[in-house]
Amino acid sequence: ARAVRVALLGCGTVGSEVVRLLHEQAEDLTARVGAPLELVGIAVRRLGRDRGPLPVPAHLFTTDALGLIKRDDVDVVIEVIGGIEPVRGWLVEALRSGKSVVTANKALLAEDGGALHDAAAEGGADLYFEAAVAGAIPLLRPLRESLHGDRITRVTGIVNGTTNFILSSMDASGAGFAEALEEATALGYAEADPTADVEGFDAAAKAAILASLAFHTRVRAEDVYREGITEVTAADVASAKAMGATIKLLCLAQRDNDAVSVRVHPAMIPRSHPLAGVGDAFNAVFVEAEAAGQLMFYGRGAGGAPTASAVLGDLVAVARHRLTGSRSAPESVYADLRIRPMGEA
Ligand code: HSE
Repeated sequence: ARAVRVALLGCGTVGSEVVRLLHEQAEDLTARVGAPLELVGIAVRRLGRDRGPLPVPAHLFTTDALGLIKRDDVDVVIEVIGGIEPVRGWLVEALRSGKSVVTANKALLAEDGGALHDAAAEGGADLYFEAAVAGAIPLLRPLRESLHGDRITRVTGIVNGTTNFILSSMDASGAGFAEALEEATALGYAEADPTADVEGFDAAAKAAILASLAFHTRVRAEDVYREGITEVTAADVASAKAMGATIKLLCLAQRDNDAVSVRVHPAMIPRSHPLAGVGDAFNAVFVEAEAAGQLMFYGRGAGGAPTASAVLGDLVAVARHRLTGSRSAPESVYADLRIRPMGEA
């Protein structure tokens, strides 16, 4: 079969790992897809940045992302460059013209996933985004496909590794928030600007994506009630401990009849709860469904290699679809649900 041609947008921590894995696992990937995967271009913001030794010729790099996407020979676009603009327009263009998209862009999906899904429907293209929530953990496709015979009632998750590291370390050592944040920064967990993590924006975006899939509706980041962990004190953690509980930054999405409530905030959970034992920078998502009962998804939610694993899994799926002319599960939005505001009885 002819090669499936791939354009990569972004070559940072995740993108360079995608390039490496595509190269190292070329033989296996070819066997799994049924045709070789050929990387035809890599769009980056700046050329000449040190990306370490990558197994690709320098001429593949370009700063013209839109030009790359529009090339006739591109079948699949992988987006790991991040940010909302100009990426939204690029991905809409790709999908409308029938190119499959694999993206890790949670901010864009949470702000305007509807525009991407609409463009995918218009172009008859696949839109996969497993890497956007909880990194390596297979979670979105189970929600989107495996659980489609069931009715999900609630999703409770720890979806931000940085804050989980901070809260776990406060719990273990009795440290205050500032001290634990410093440690997280020193160890490379927290970013130089930790706002998106510690104020709960990152978790809120992920919560919106999870709620949309779980409840067949469209929830945006702005619909999510959000409270971060900056006000959690050593005393809070100590009193939780005294009660046999621990504090976690939870994302909660719940459906009650015609309404869905989605929120992110620190919560006290009993040590016996499966989420209480999720330490370090791990992620875990607890799903409750009517027939399936309780399910727990656990693993690494961030990092180059774990995130690239999710990207490549999606790539294999969409590449197979290109060859067989089939399509993956399109967006399933039919539920007319109200977003229940916080505090409503
Ligand atoms: N900053 C995020 C986290 C990275 O700490 O979980 C993955 O989205």
